[in-house]
Amino acid sequence: LLTNSYHCWLQYRKLENAEKYSKIASTIAVADDTVVINSAVNELKNALNSMFDITPSVQPFPTNEYSIVLGTYESVDLEEFGIARELFSNLNEEGYLLKYAENQKQVLLIGKTDQGTLYATFHFLRILQREESIDDLEIIEAPKNQLRMMNQWDNIDGSIERGYSGNSIFFNDNDFTNDLTRVRDYARLLSSVGVNAISINNVNVWDIETNLISEKFLPKVKEVADILESYAITTYLSINYASPMELGNLESADPLNEEVEKWWAEKVEEIYSYIPEFGGFVVKADSEGRPGPFTYGRGHVEGANVLARALKPFNGKVVWRCFVYNCLQDWRDRKTDRARAAYDNFKSLDGQFLDNVILQIKNGPMDFQVREPVSPLLGAMKDTNQVLEFQIAQEYTGQQIDVCYLIPQWKEVLNFDTYAKGEGSTVKSIADGSLYGYKHSGIAAVSNIGDDINWTGNTLAQANFYGFGRLIWNPDLTTDEITKDWIHLTFGNDPKVVEEIEYMLLHSWRTYENYTAPLGVGWMVNPDHHYGPNVEGYEYSKWGTYHFADRDGIGVDRTIETGTGYAGQYFEPNAKVYNSLENCPDELLLFFHHVPYTHKLQSGETVIQHIYNTHYQGVEEVEDFIQRWNSLKGKVEDWVFENVKDRLQRQLENAIEWRDRINTYFYRKSGIPDQQGRPIY
Ligand code: GCU
Repeated sequence: LLTNSYHCWLQYRKLENAEKYSKIASTIAVADDTVVINSAVNELKNALNSMFDITPSVQPFPTNEYSIVLGTYESVDLEEFGIARELFSNLNEEGYLLKYAENQKQVLLIGKTDQGTLYATFHFLRILQREESIDDLEIIEAPKNQLRMMNQWDNIDGSIERGYSGNSIFFNDNDFTNDLTRVRDYARLLSSVGVNAISINNVNVWDIETNLISEKFLPKVKEVADILESYAITTYLSINYASPMELGNLESADPLNEEVEKWWAEKVEEIYSYIPEFGGFVVKADSEGRPGPFTYGRGHVEGANVLARALKPFNGKVVWRCFVYNCLQDWRDRKTDRARAAYDNFKSLDGQFLDNVILQIKNGPMDFQVREPVSPLLGAMKDTNQVLEFQIAQEYTGQQIDVCYLIPQWKEVLNFDTYAKGEGSTVKSIADGSLYGYKHSGIAAVSNIGDDINWTGNTLAQANFYGFGRLIWNPDLTTDEITKDWIHLTFGNDPKVVEEIEYMLLHSWRTYENYTAPLGVGWMVNPDHHYGPNVEGYEYSKWGTYHFADRDGIGVDRTIETGTGYAGQYFEPNAKVYNSLENCPDELLLFFHHVPYTHKLQSGETVIQHIYNTHYQGVEEVEDFIQRWNSLKGKVEDWVFENVKDRLQRQLENAIEWRDRINTYFYRKSGIPDQQGRPIY
């Protein structure tokens, strides 16, 4: 038996006031017969059944009945409903119209294409589930971003790299899973929030996974791709750059070698013979030990373009990741700065990639820390397609034990003004392609789901998955709107439930930041698994993630004059702001500057006192979350109540450990006592 949490925000609870919609809900009129529209019809049927306790009849359009009409602007005669077809001329392929027809007999769910119809259906179901009025329903919608992608980090043995919610729903025991029910349900969840692309295997492509593009696995990739395609989601695969050698027995994978070129061309043709709608490749090359063009003295341009040429005839794309840095750094070397790496590696290559290559850039220059500045590479390449990469999986933000709602963080990133083309050059305008007129662009993220019954380990982490989809569909939605929607759809309308969960979610990112690494310095986590505090865990390691704390001060000098020069990678005035000790925002101070513990922040607090205060505060906030959650006993599904309660308890232990380690470490280093005399060890 599946609990409600399995259905996340698609629970379709019985409506309290069903009468106001019941006329139209009894009939579904369908104007097109496509696989995607069939998915929409099925979704609608199930949802109406569950919300109204009826079995709606499905009829071909046109019909005279009161009904919900599903079709596209080509299959439904809009003039008859007094709607001008021109309404659709400016709408992109994925857009749609939701309208209660003037005759008050039909609700129209009209896509520009069938994909739009599917999105319209999910949107309409949201309206019903939230019991909003449809009397004046007239909504025209289209996604702002073109590529809205999920990256699974699933391995074929069933494990998930940085997975915190059980095992893979795609793979098991070195093969695809036999039962693809959850893949289908995942597809429903994804398309309900507008995600339109997915790469199904880990960016680190190990031995067996290398074979996913071989005849051994392609029939199964196709099976999965067909399911995803029926929800308008395009399948991509992560590939091993050394495939020509490992699968093709060639001597080299040199992108300029003719045999290699030919091998890729034939391989891609083979893939498309199985999966005509295949999306393309995601590539992690010359990154953290994975093979790439560097071995042959070639660069990223040659590396990506050979794949792009192979994919071009099929409209396929190369998503080339920019997470390239020296991961064998000597900690004694103070010149190399990992934060600089993506920009240093890629910026000068602008304009040289083929137009079906997209560079995928992590939101920050390091690696998904709780606080980082925006990557300076975003916006720095005006003639190269870019995709922004977020991490929904909470690798460094509590691993779905601790609650950490990331929508507020992503909003800050999207609204950040890079000044790449003068004022107003926001990250969202880069991602949506409008700033530079990119041919392809958008937003991708590392998924946080697994085969746990609630999908995300901590049930509250579902909000990050939901919010990601809604936010990248339209980055102008407010955090508030997204959060409220998720809570209502998932937990119902009890005001107390809504209020407490909203409070917890909206405060949780700040809380997590409060009890972990201070003021943007990052890391201080246990090496390898990255959960829990270890102040010097990475201090003398090869990964390039240092904080340089000594008895006098802490922080990384990334200024132009005396530091690594990283601050200079930004456009003005950002470069100046970050470079300046006075103007650098407090929350990023230690990312950009090495300062004495007694340095006064803009808040008026000293750095050391800020560390003590926030770490005490962080723990108190978690205690407060626990109180709030406990007050919801009996108001949310028992299983979910216990799930979150248990995680909050573990979060509290984690927060206490962080607080005491961090405070003690800096007290011992600095010898400066806490002004409030709280216990430090
Ligand atoms: C992080 C993460 C790795 C992952 C890598 C990537 O470093 O810890 O597990 O492979 O990012 O994004 O490629």
